[in-house]
Amino acid sequence: MSKLRGRFGEPTGDDMQRFSSSIEIDLEMLDEDIDGTRAHVTMLAEAGMLGDDEAARLLEGLEHVRAELRAGSWVPGDELEDIHMAVEARLVERLGEPAKKVHTARSRNDQVATDVRLWLRRNLQALSDELGELLSALLSRAESDGDVLMAGYTHLQRGQPILLGHLLLAHAWPVSRDRQRVADALTRIDLNPLGACAMAGTPHPIRRERTTELLGFGGMVENAMDAVAARDHEQEVAALCAIVAGHLSRMAEELVLWSSTEFGFVRLSERYATGSSIMPQKRNPDAAELLRGRSARIQAGVTGLLSLCRALPMAYNRDLQETRELLFQVVSSTRESVRIATGVWNTLSFRRDRFEQELRGDFSLATEVADWLASRGVPFREAHEVSGRMVRHCDEQGTDLSSLSPEAAADFHPLLAEADRELWIDPRAAAERRTSRGGTASAEIRRQIGLLRATTA
Ligand code: ARG
Repeated sequence: MSKLRGRFGEPTGDDMQRFSSSIEIDLEMLDEDIDGTRAHVTMLAEAGMLGDDEAARLLEGLEHVRAELRAGSWVPGDELEDIHMAVEARLVERLGEPAKKVHTARSRNDQVATDVRLWLRRNLQALSDELGELLSALLSRAESDGDVLMAGYTHLQRGQPILLGHLLLAHAWPVSRDRQRVADALTRIDLNPLGACAMAGTPHPIRRERTTELLGFGGMVENAMDAVAARDHEQEVAALCAIVAGHLSRMAEELVLWSSTEFGFVRLSERYATGSSIMPQKRNPDAAELLRGRSARIQAGVTGLLSLCRALPMAYNRDLQETRELLFQVVSSTRESVRIATGVWNTLSFRRDRFEQELRGDFSLATEVADWLASRGVPFREAHEVSGRMVRHCDEQGTDLSSLSPEAAADFHPLLAEADRELWIDPRAAAERRTSRGGTASAEIRRQIGLLRATTA
């Protein structure tokens, strides 16, 4: 027989019981539910609403229920609907009377809000650590392979020579911002809704400050109706996870391209590559492809959470039960993806020779000619035109800039007669000249590694 049926003449239908139950997902927040109830019991006892030995028995009983549920030695049925009712029902079975007092000055509405905030706090702290590991992995690769010279791309067309470290840092900075976003979201998550009860507060002499302290919350949700109705912190977490997943997907896309024979810049470790069921030679970058694919699911979760809440009247509505499956899936998937991405970066090998080979015979030093002329007073637009004509000339001849001597270059602009030919044939020198703040020169790469390292310490 389902619970809470005092005012009904008939039991709930079996189909409705199944439809209504969230117990399976709720078990993910078993610890949070027990911890929340422990804090509530302690506070009730201190406020004189439970006797001291009643409270002591309840606290002990709660630990038994925690252990039983964790071990699966007691399995709640669907009639118990959710983790809150399951824990209470089991406590009543074990302890009788005192357990029936536990729900004084409390509602499942503030319980579920509390549990989810605690669950998020625990998982976001872990996500932050995991993002820190990913950041360290990228920085280590920038230290070990950052000196490799390569083409920097825009529009996936070769642009200017850069050092690989420059690109790795361009992936690392977003990860460090992701960590900041997590920390920032935590300031809004880490607020205690317990004591809001159904939505109006309570006439009982509770002390919300005390449960706040016992649960280690940074503060309280100030309005009882907001405390049970708000889910914007859940939406915010999903949004930040979607941003993280988007970053992982950009890295993944690059690794997929780079591990193709055509690029051949990178080899994923065998731990993260898979074979084909038909083509024996295959060595597919599935880890990267799955990171890219998983990001779509994570991003879909944001839409789901926004849609669930958008037209709900105040305060609690049962629709809100549906946020949990999406939210937990988004956060767990994001955490797993971050760990996989870290593994991929830590174990892949760069084919250092391949990057440089690709720079030969291209026109990625055309900007050098324009910049050199501009530094000698030629207006940049004109300098750009000169360099463009040099490129067209070489292209038509089927050669590249290295075929031009300063004398030949002087046909395009007289000043070029005095230029050092290295200007348009030495890509490393070109990269190292970019010493402006945030540029690709190795000194700038080292400086940024230092800045980011300091955030992971
Ligand atoms: N299982 C419910 C949920 O997840 C708990 C709150 C139930 N409250 C209610 N008034 N039915 O949202």
